[in-house]
Amino acid sequence: MRITSALVDPALLDLPWSVPLEEWPASHLVALPQGISRHIVRFVKLNDTVYALKETRERIAEKEYDLLRALERIDFPAVEAVAIVNDRLDDAGEPLESVLITRHLQFSLPYRALFSHMLRPETMNRLLDALAALIVRMHLTGFSWGDCSLSNTLFRRDAGAFAAYLVDAETGNLYPKLSEGQRSEDIEILRLNIFGECLDLEAAELLHEAIDPEAVVDDIVARYERLWHEVTYEQEVPRDAR
Ligand SMILES: Nc1ncnc2c1ncn2[C@@H]1O[C@H](COP(=O)(O)OP(=O)(O)OP(=O)(O)O)[C@@H](O)[C@H]1O
Ligand SMILES: [Mg+2]
Repeated sequence: MRITSALVDPALLDLPWSVPLEEWPASHLVALPQGISRHIVRFVKLNDTVYALKETRERIAEKEYDLLRALERIDFPAVEAVAIVNDRLDDAGEPLESVLITRHLQFSLPYRALFSHMLRPETMNRLLDALAALIVRMHLTGFSWGDCSLSNTLFRRDAGAFAAYLVDAETGNLYPKLSEGQRSEDIEILRLNIFGECLDLEAAELLHEAIDPEAVVDDIVARYERLWHEVTYEQEVPRDAR
């Protein structure tokens, strides 16, 4: 087992790394709401810090770790990468996947937990506002997400509004600047993902009857475009027009 980290919490070393994450005893884990994901994600509490552990391939864990660190340097609202655990072996000497460790984002909720009861349309609006603002900020910094969705976002209640944070950077890329094409590609993915997520909510009878998935998607794209235009619009005034 090999742990890579800027500052290792020694308590992390004592976790049962030779056991697949799925089989970790409950005594090591804390039950907190989590979103739907392909990878196994578990939360552990060590001293007073809660960490999120995600089992994934080494290359992916490293890419995500580097991206999250880069986002942290520019103060971008995302989960904070703590360490990567590589070269794990089980008790029979068979290799196990790597683990990406992030700090659990306190007071955050995955959207599925927000929808544990039906949201009023205006609460849904505030959620979409937060997500649109996150993506505008992301695109301004040159980050293309590649997988914008409600499940890859965490929400914190922030006075009357919501604040959105990026949780899954696996598919992201940081560029000096995004082209129009890169931006619209990200927005197309957002359309598909959010539409699918709304259909899932509808099937689970968690979507308010006044909310139409197609309208939600058009709405969030419109919010994004409006905000993008507002922050990037540059007025050109010819000198003799003064
Ligand atoms: N640092 C964290 N703080 C709070 N929750 C977290 C954190 N890391 C992961 N989670 C929870 O675990 C869920 C799954 O994480 P993540 O999206 O990174 O997994 P994934 O398997 O890569 O997802 P996908 O299926 O989109 O590839 C998130 O939706 C979130 O609820
Ligand atoms: Mg995810």
